[in-house]
Amino acid sequence: MKIKNICCIGAGYVGGPTMAVIAQKCPEINVTVVDINDKRIAAWNDDNVDNIPIYEPGLSRVVEEARGRNLFFSTDVEKAIDQADMIFISVNTPTKTYGIGKGMAADLKFIELCARQIARVATTDKIVVEKSTLPVRTAEALRNILDNTGNGVKYQILSNPEFLAEGTAVDDLMNPDRVLIGGDIDTTEGAEAVEALVDVYAHWIDRERILTTNVWSSELSKLTANAFLAQRVSSINSLSELCEKTGADVNEVAKAVGMDSRIGPKFLQSSVGFGGSCFQKDLLNLVYIAKSYGLNEVADYWEQVIIMNDHQKKRFAANIVKTLFNTVSGKKIGVLGWAFKKDTNDTRESAAIYVVDYLLNEQADVVVYDPKVNAEQVYADLDHLNTRSEAENRARVTVVNSAMDVTKDAHAVAVLTEWDEFKSLDWSLIYDDMLKPAFLFDGRRLLNRAEKEKIGFEFYAIGS
Ligand code: UDX
Ligand code: ADP
Repeated sequence: MKIKNICCIGAGYVGGPTMAVIAQKCPEINVTVVDINDKRIAAWNDDNVDNIPIYEPGLSRVVEEARGRNLFFSTDVEKAIDQADMIFISVNTPTKTYGIGKGMAADLKFIELCARQIARVATTDKIVVEKSTLPVRTAEALRNILDNTGNGVKYQILSNPEFLAEGTAVDDLMNPDRVLIGGDIDTTEGAEAVEALVDVYAHWIDRERILTTNVWSSELSKLTANAFLAQRVSSINSLSELCEKTGADVNEVAKAVGMDSRIGPKFLQSSVGFGGSCFQKDLLNLVYIAKSYGLNEVADYWEQVIIMNDHQKKRFAANIVKTLFNTVSGKKIGVLGWAFKKDTNDTRESAAIYVVDYLLNEQADVVVYDPKVNAEQVYADLDHLNTRSEAENRARVTVVNSAMDVTKDAHAVAVLTEWDEFKSLDWSLIYDDMLKPAFLFDGRRLLNRAEKEKIGFEFYAIGS
């Protein structure tokens, strides 16, 4: 079975970059990415390739090479579904905000809508690939809808979880540690479908790195991988607090521990807390699944990773208030960084949102700068929390276009995203511009303490 036409439903952080790389590496396959958001599709089609809606290093060049050749972005979802032999579902699966499983389970509403649309439109056999992060056993639900409401065409359902990290998406896609494909490998048709997707990836990835499993293992592996990664961050963050009390330095501890080859050095960078669309959502999914099988100890174990992360964000904000003589009311606090990590414009679950929300509750005046995030997004993120009125968020928070505007006349500055450009700011000038004592809070261990103290800052960093 040779794949000629791929359709991807969802032109977001996962669908967009993944399809761009598939199209670049497989020039003989037509790849159409569709989305109901016409603004997003228009941005993907923008004549100036630097205006695509997702900022990822290297992505615009990949899009430039393939777009119009065999990579297309469209709002005509039905046509793309009908023409495709293989359909990737890459729509968002946020945590439920209502009903059963509220605040914990993934909301599969968008996935179900896609499945029903595929069932309605398809007139030829399709391979349907789950790309969104999903709770275990979603494939079963997909199959149920497709088999019972379809036009009698045959479906194979594959799970092909995405392991790309934002900010390094293009590299991760070009050179993945592994590709995981789950399918009905015990049946001939299932094995053929798996093989068809293996062939796509084998255009640029060694076959030894393409793992094939049954669907459930694939779905659970994705949740497990993210849970393990998040757990490492919470583990080191828990020790950052102990380091602050005891005089140990968390970076030194992380280095010493990470040099043990059994542990390894990655994901041990202490921070103001992990964010992103995946970690918390996947942990919550895991907790929810465990609870639904009555595995309360398993659920509690993983829930603690989230509790620790919430604590880290809160204690960072509380420390700002405490240090500024127990009040930030009416004080200008400069915030450098809003994205959940550097090299992305994604702000979902970013620690900055929660830190600033805390400071706003303490009546601070906050000024924000992020190299890739605009004012509209900052306000949308704060409004989404529903802590105060939209008018008050706009009255208390100002978003500016340069780091120097953040720091002018500020009582304190907090670094919340580890953007490289923050390292090379003119910190002496910033010091001169700030009110004294000039407090600097480093939530990313980005800045050099000795240098900053020499300039005159009162310097606080996570974990030392
Ligand atoms: C993650 C997984 O890495 C990826 O495999 C999966 O497909 C999606 O979820 P992503 O959320 O894009 O990717 O970013 P990641 O690099 O994992 O960082 C997540 C959060 O943890 C960020 O807020 C980051 O700043 C934080 N982090 C990461 C730390 O605080 N310390 C670390 O050592 C590593
Ligand atoms: P992710 O990080 O998982 O890629 P995003 O929110 O960035 O998540 O992208 C998901 C995209 O899926 C959004 O652009 C959204 O408009 C799109 N989408 C959701 N439901 C549908 C649907 N039924 N048909 C087409 N596109 C959809």
